[in-house]
Amino acid sequence: MKEILVLKGDGVGEEIINSALKVLEEISNKSDFKYNLNFAEIGGDAIDKYGDPFPEETKEMLKNKDAVLLGAVGGPKWDNIESDKRPEKGLLRLRKEMGVYINLRPAKIYEKLLDRSPIKNEIVKDLNILVVRELLGGIYFGKRDIYVEKGIRKAYDVEFYDEKEIKRIAKYAFIAARDRRKKLSLIDKANVLDSSKLWREVVKEVHEDFKDVELEFLYVDNASMQLIKNPRNFDVILTNNIFGDILSDELSEITGSIGLLPSASIGDSISLYEPIHGSALDIAGKNIVNPIATILSVAMMLKFSFNREDLAKEIEESVKKTIEKDILSFDLNKENYYTTKDITDEIIKNL
Ligand code: IPM
Ligand code: MN
Repeated sequence: MKEILVLKGDGVGEEIINSALKVLEEISNKSDFKYNLNFAEIGGDAIDKYGDPFPEETKEMLKNKDAVLLGAVGGPKWDNIESDKRPEKGLLRLRKEMGVYINLRPAKIYEKLLDRSPIKNEIVKDLNILVVRELLGGIYFGKRDIYVEKGIRKAYDVEFYDEKEIKRIAKYAFIAARDRRKKLSLIDKANVLDSSKLWREVVKEVHEDFKDVELEFLYVDNASMQLIKNPRNFDVILTNNIFGDILSDELSEITGSIGLLPSASIGDSISLYEPIHGSALDIAGKNIVNPIATILSVAMMLKFSFNREDLAKEIEESVKKTIEKDILSFDLNKENYYTTKDITDEIIKNL
């Protein structure tokens, strides 16, 4: 029996997790895949209960689990808490604790949604990109401080990487590219940052073992333009923690909506699955959030943690069918939208 830890978090977290769990339940009813659910708190939800966004109680629950499914964290209610106790910090501590250094964010465009993209059809058609984002290093985890010196307020955040951190994720990205269209784009700011220069050096060295994969280098400012101008140039994007965060939001809008993109965070032990979007407090509790990013995160879980690509494919196909029937949530069709529950039911029906 597979043990899954579920952390719904804040805002729309509860609704998207409920949807995703319903889909998982149906998959299990229809197959030999069996699992057991365990629940714990993260983010603001955990602050309210324990005064800590990643409490010992939640950390303890990670033991003997096979995968973690997470909704979203954050919200204005916890905005004025000191930065070390914010909901987002809970997510970062969870990722660190789990050792998940590879964050996979696949982005595809559905034929049916071409008109939802702000980019012209002929440019965005067939877009299929995998973002491989480093998740445990860089400015997210570097030294930081905010202080007053001689009456002047000062602050800094350090972008730091060592070669081992770069090498392990670069290897993964080349292997992923080998299975796809064999092109890897390293996105950095090597014309300014020393940390980016190290990324280039190390990625070039790793490339020696992957000569069948084409490697290109792009500065992040140019890359964010190229993503809009010529997104089909990209196959696998490899980048650091902060650039990966920013570029994946850009990419999500290009594919139609941030409500569509799932993610898997992988390390040497158990993996974490979550949509790339946030807690969307403005639409929470209204039964209008798009559940697809989380449902597709469950598909990634089946594939990566449980080796059930067959079941993952079933979910992906069913999501596609639902979109093709024009059963779209509020983010994709404001005039004539279906509720979170409608979409979930339809995806279950199409399984
Ligand atoms: C994401 C989110 C998180 C991140 C936040 C909530 C800490 O934006 O997963 O993309 O920046 O990694
Ligand atoms: Mn983000």
